[in-house]
Order: sequence, then structure tokens, then C-alpha cells
Amino acid sequence: MKAIVCNSFGLPDSLVFDQLPEPSIGELDVLINVRACGINFPDLLIIQNKYQFKPELPFSPGGEISGTIEAVGAKIKQFKTGDRVVALCGWGGFAEKVVVKANRVFPMPPGMDFINGACTLYTYGTSYHALKDRAQLKTGETLLVLGAGGGVGLAAVELGKVMGATVIAAASSAEKLEACREKGAAHTINYSTEDLRTRLKEITQDKGVDVVYDAVGGKLAEQALRSMAWKGRYLVVGFTAGEIPQFPANLPLLKGCSIMGVFWGSFAEREPQQSLQNLVEIIGLMRTGAIKQHIHKIYSLEEAPKALEDLMNRKVIGKAVVKIGDWTEEPVATKKEVVKEVVKEIVEEIKTEFKTSLNEIPRPLRIKLADIKKYIGQPLGTTDWFTVTQETINEFANATQDHQWIHVDVDRAKQQMPEGKTIAHGYLTMSLAAKFFPELIAVDGATTAINYGLNKARFPVAVKSGSRIRMTGKITNAEDMPNNGYKLYVEAKIEVEGEEKPAYIGELLTALY
Ligand SMILES: NC(=O)c1ccc[n+]([C@@H]2O[C@H](COP(=O)([O-])OP(=O)(O)OC[C@H]3O[C@@H](n4cnc5c(N)ncnc54)[C@H](OP(=O)(O)O)[C@@H]3O)[C@@H](O)[C@H]2O)c1
Repeated sequence: MKAIVCNSFGLPDSLVFDQLPEPSIGELDVLINVRACGINFPDLLIIQNKYQFKPELPFSPGGEISGTIEAVGAKIKQFKTGDRVVALCGWGGFAEKVVVKANRVFPMPPGMDFINGACTLYTYGTSYHALKDRAQLKTGETLLVLGAGGGVGLAAVELGKVMGATVIAAASSAEKLEACREKGAAHTINYSTEDLRTRLKEITQDKGVDVVYDAVGGKLAEQALRSMAWKGRYLVVGFTAGEIPQFPANLPLLKGCSIMGVFWGSFAEREPQQSLQNLVEIIGLMRTGAIKQHIHKIYSLEEAPKALEDLMNRKVIGKAVVKIGDWTEEPVATKKEVVKEVVKEIVEEIKTEFKTSLNEIPRPLRIKLADIKKYIGQPLGTTDWFTVTQETINEFANATQDHQWIHVDVDRAKQQMPEGKTIAHGYLTMSLAAKFFPELIAVDGATTAINYGLNKARFPVAVKSGSRIRMTGKITNAEDMPNNGYKLYVEAKIEVEGEEKPAYIGELLTALY
């Protein structure tokens, strides 16, 4: 098969266009006909033997691909020949075919073409994890992105804007910054001509930035850390400048800020359910058009070394993609309604596929009544956020005839309560546990599944009007009941956005028949 081959470690011009033997497939692998391969910075490091993964020579670089399945290993049930997939292969993608472990392969959502499929997981996956799970970026915060015109950088700009932050994009050229503005950056800094700290002071009016997304490292890193706001979060993402920054420890002390590592690959392996949830949300954002990959240029397979060279010379804005073979995209569907329906079906399918490939079960956990005991100890993940509005509080007060002023008197609360807000009833918070419950678990075959009780409840912090809350759950026990029923125990924790302690910890008791 045709491939770009690395025979000896070196720069992109040492790569050659050649023939490699077709890879052989193991029982846990799939063989993929590669359609496109996204270019990522680690590809550049791997060919120089500077990355943590070190393939044996000769090998073909290219770590993220899209394509169709040609063959599946004997033990693989979740894929079949012809499936359109995306995969994180590590290397081997600059070739007509590649063998990948099935747990690194994902079904491609409909409506997504092969070019976009080859450059979505890595960029959006990393940046979403960094901003959502690590920094917990909030609406109204400021986000500085260093290397904002690159692959993960531009994705961070876009996602930061979608998450309601004021995005400050910093890059080395006017062209890159223009692309950042198109993706929603409110402010831009050209760090090859402007002083980063001075500009950040001006833009934030001396307050500093709440979150820094650093995909560059080098000299800019300390300047960015010195420009942080109180309780800021500094995300260590990459070191494209070639220098791993050394920070003086007094800086995080003085600023009360955190320096946080981001390792998306490890996160996806260690927390597959949360990673799946993120990918489903990313696909949702793409589907609505809220985010869209910026494709810099499509290169042919022969031109793949040139694509790497352009990346190395900081010429690429967004993503460079290598197209393998001569193919045209088949339209997935034409009518809007059909597309919508198909997308809905496939999101469900992805959830099921991920379940098999990652050996994890997406939310809600759907289990059969008879199997319930097998799930003792199973974490159920986390629900979506729910906002406790004054209206919610009033409705509860009316229903329970409890009209204490701390719950319902908004004017008095403005003067007398912390932050000037009313407080939700503890029992309201507790009752919301029952609302959240079906988001986490659904039991097939149970004719009655009523949450009938709450046990061992504690309320470490109060929920104020307007706060967002969500619940995390875990099955702790299932006891036999008469008539083949079960009593299910779910440990529940309701957290409040921005609070360290939860609003509620307790045990939900549910009768299942
Ligand atoms: N932690 C994780 O989980 C994770 C996941 C994915 C990627 N990464 C890392 O994130 C970094 C960015 O990856 P990417 O694929 O987005 O790369 P990319 O598209 O090449 O973007 C990197 C940006 O870095 C800047 N840069 C500064 N000095 C550079 C230099 N000497 N050579 C090349 N670029 C330089 C460039 O912007 P300017 O020209 O504007 O300065 C470039 O746009 C890499 O270090 C990668 O390993 C980490």
C-alpha cells in the first residue's frame, strides 16, 4: 500500500512517499481504509523521536484518521465492514490502510464528512476537557488562549465563546488573529509585536485573566501566569515553543491561582464515561452549528510532509488535513427532517457503540431488572445542570405552605441575606434528587420504579436562588423484595456550581417490581 514512511528520525523533509506492506489485523483490532488524516503537533514530534510514543522504524506517521472499516478482528462485535469511523491510531495514518485497536475507534456521526471526521476528536476533545472539566470555565469569565490560531487553540477560542467567556486570543500573526475573531474572540493580542502583559492589563483593566489555556509554553508562559486574576486557573496543554516553562512558586501563592495539567488521552482512558459525555456534547454543538472546524488546507498523501513542514513553520491556521486517495463525499441525506432524524438515531447508536468499545455505560444507565445486582458499585455519572430559579422556590413554597421570608421575600433577602439572594428550601433540594434520578438510571422490565425515599440526608451548603445544581450518583446496594422485586440504594450527591461543598448528600431508596 502507498504510504508516507519515516525510515530514520528527522524533520519532515526526511519522510518518503513509498510502499509499505499491508498491516495484519489482531483479534481486538479493526482494519480501516483511510480517507483522511488530520495533522497534529505530536506527529511532528514522533518523526523526530521526541514524543512519549516511540514507534519502531520504519513507520508511517499520522495519529488521527477517518475512513471505512475493511475488516474486523475475531473478537470485535461493535463494528462491521463498511462502517464510517474516526480513530486515534497514534501513527500509521499517512497510509492507505491502518490497523487500530477497536477501543480507539468511534462511529462517525452522520452529517460529518471524512475531512472533518479526521480532525475533530483531538482538538475539540482536548479543549473541551480543559475548559469544562479542568478549569470549570464560567459564563462571564475571561479566557486567554495562547497559540490561539493553532488546532487545539482555535477550538479553545470557539468553545470558550460558546461557554460564555470573554475570549482573548493571542497568536503570532494578524491572519491567525483574524481567524480567532471569526470564531468569537472579543480581543486579540499579537505576541510577536505586542507585549502580552501590558495588553492583558489594558484589556482586563488590571483585574487579570481568569483562565489561561497555554498550548505554547516557553517565554510566554510566565508572562501569562503573572497576568492572572485572583483564583485563576492556568491550563498546561502543550509546549510548541519547545521549552517547558519553570514557574516561580510564589506566583500561584500570591494570586491564589491553580496551575492545572491537561492530558486528554489519559482522561479519556481513565474517565471514559465523562469523555463520552463530552464527545456527545461536542457532536451536539457541531450539529447545531455552534462550532465548526477551520480547515486550513487539504493536502494529498504525497504532500503530507509539506503539511507537517507548514505546521512546523507555524503557517497552519486551524487544521491541516491529508486526503488519502481519490474519493468524493457521498451526501448523507438531503432533507432537513431526515438529517435530524438520522442524527438523533446515530447519537443513540454512538452511545451504544461507546458503551461496548469503552466497556462503560452512557447516561442514563439502562439496565434490566433481573441484572440489577451486577451493578452494585457502578457509578452513574452526573446529570445536566438545573437552575433553581425564584419561580421554582415559590412553587415549592406554595405547594408546601412554607412561606418563610428567607425563601420568598426577594427584597428583604437583597438587604439581609449573603449575596442578597433568597435560599431554596432544603426539602426542595432533596426533592430534586428524585427529579435527577431518571437522568442517571432507567430500569427495563420494572413495572414500578418509584423513588420512595431518601435516607441519611445531609445539607452541607445552602442553594441560593439562581444557582445551578446537578447530581452525581452511584449504586450502593440492591436488596431482594417480595414478588421478584428489588430495593435499590443509590448514593446521591447534589453539587452547586462554584461551591466546594455539596448542597446535599444522601441515599435514594427505590422500589422496583
Ligand atoms: N495536553 C493534551 O492533552 C494535548 C492534547 C492535544 C494537543 N496537545 C499539545 O498542544 C500543542 C498544540 O497542538 P496543535 O496540534 O494544536 O498544534 P498547532 O496546530 O501547530 O498549534 C500550535 C501553535 O503553537 C504556536 N507556536 C509557538 N511556537 C511554536 C513553534 N516553535 N513551533 C510551532 N508552533 C509554535 C503556533 O502559533 P503562533 O505561531 O501563533 O505562535 C501554533 O499555531 C502541542 O504541544 C500538542 O502536543 C496537548
